[in-house]
Amino acid sequence: MTSDALTQAQAAYAALKARGLKLNMQRGQPSDADFDLSNGLLSVLTEADLKMDGLDLRNYPGGVTGLPSARKLFAEYLDVKPENVLVWNNASLELQGLVLTFALLHGLRASKGPWAHGKPKMIVTVPGYDRHFLLLETLGFELLTVDMQPDGPDVDAIERLAGQDDSVKGLLFVPTYSNPGGETISAQKAARLAGLKAAAQDFTIFADDAYRAHHLSDERDTPVNLVTLCRDAGFPDRAFVFASTSKVTYAGAGLGFMASSEDNIKWVSKYLNAQSIGPNKLEQARHVKFLEAYEGGLEGLMRDHARLIDPKFRAVSEVLGQELGTGGEFATWGNPRGGYFISLDTTAPVADRVVQLAEEAGISLTPAGATYPGGKDPHNRNIRLAPTRPPLEEVGTAMQGIATCIRLATEEHRARQG
Ligand SMILES: Cc1ncc(COP(=O)(O)O)c(C=O)c1O
Repeated sequence: MTSDALTQAQAAYAALKARGLKLNMQRGQPSDADFDLSNGLLSVLTEADLKMDGLDLRNYPGGVTGLPSARKLFAEYLDVKPENVLVWNNASLELQGLVLTFALLHGLRASKGPWAHGKPKMIVTVPGYDRHFLLLETLGFELLTVDMQPDGPDVDAIERLAGQDDSVKGLLFVPTYSNPGGETISAQKAARLAGLKAAAQDFTIFADDAYRAHHLSDERDTPVNLVTLCRDAGFPDRAFVFASTSKVTYAGAGLGFMASSEDNIKWVSKYLNAQSIGPNKLEQARHVKFLEAYEGGLEGLMRDHARLIDPKFRAVSEVLGQELGTGGEFATWGNPRGGYFISLDTTAPVADRVVQLAEEAGISLTPAGATYPGGKDPHNRNIRLAPTRPPLEEVGTAMQGIATCIRLATEEHRARQG
């Protein structure tokens, strides 16, 4: 027998489908309006700027650590000294891949040998970022998952996993406004990670701080400084922190950079120097000049992004609250203070069905399961919402449609349960 609630949900879904929408809530990308804020990059350099820091930007010399002015700028961003920073090319993911590959081939400074000689394992947080899983799995790591909690990774679980087994080589996670849940690690948990007693003497924290400055308003989470915390805990080489300008200026067309101990920067430089004479200094120079000239500097640019992005995040929670209620009958979702995503959990195990229904109604969502290794969410509940790319009006329309899909998938599930 079909329940009233199911019949109503089916009718609402039929009406949604009839609208013939074509909306995308899948892409964690800036909007065109965000990109436009950085169009000054296109004309900021003139012939007079072809020399910076005493280097001819058109020529090779300069080394692999990056232009001194760029190291200084991103040292401020990451709250470390310029000597602790290496500025590379257009993607922080590439830098993460390079450091992990060097560790596999050569071992880190504290390693007994190349990680690839054993069966290296890496801890990741779930729900998490699919490209981290892809990168680690492609390089041959076995992934161990721990939950991402409101104040950061489940450190008790990390202590258990890393405390016994010396093939557990580290943790890769997003410390600030995580992808997808928007959680920020607390100072207390960060200090515990920094001083963690691991079986592997080369246990390493890989912190992908992609959203460190991506606050939505003045109510901010406080980013931690893992390089300093690890140094103070007696493990100076334990942390590598990565970030980029992909969600600051242009996505994939800006700068990736990293921070670590001075010794680790020398260690990475040795291997980078074997494969490159140096990064693109012209790109670095134009970012330095553009960001220094921007009103309020990089912080000012991030405030302008927040003005564009915050209303979209608000629209997501408002529409979900109106359509589904806030009591968890159909779903629960986060209310992050920054970052690029909102993580939603359906109450019934129907995430894959919601994504399918949405797709058939013309609303594209991140594939169900993408936030777990192997693309398999054991609970079939998590959906990553990405509200930054579409215009504000489309976010509201898409969320109404998604709420309709969540209702229908839930009522179908309830009807099956009887
Ligand atoms: C957590 C996280 N890290 C890295 C990236 C990609 O950064 P990049 O363009 O610097 O490789 C993204 C993009 O969505 C991300 O969410």
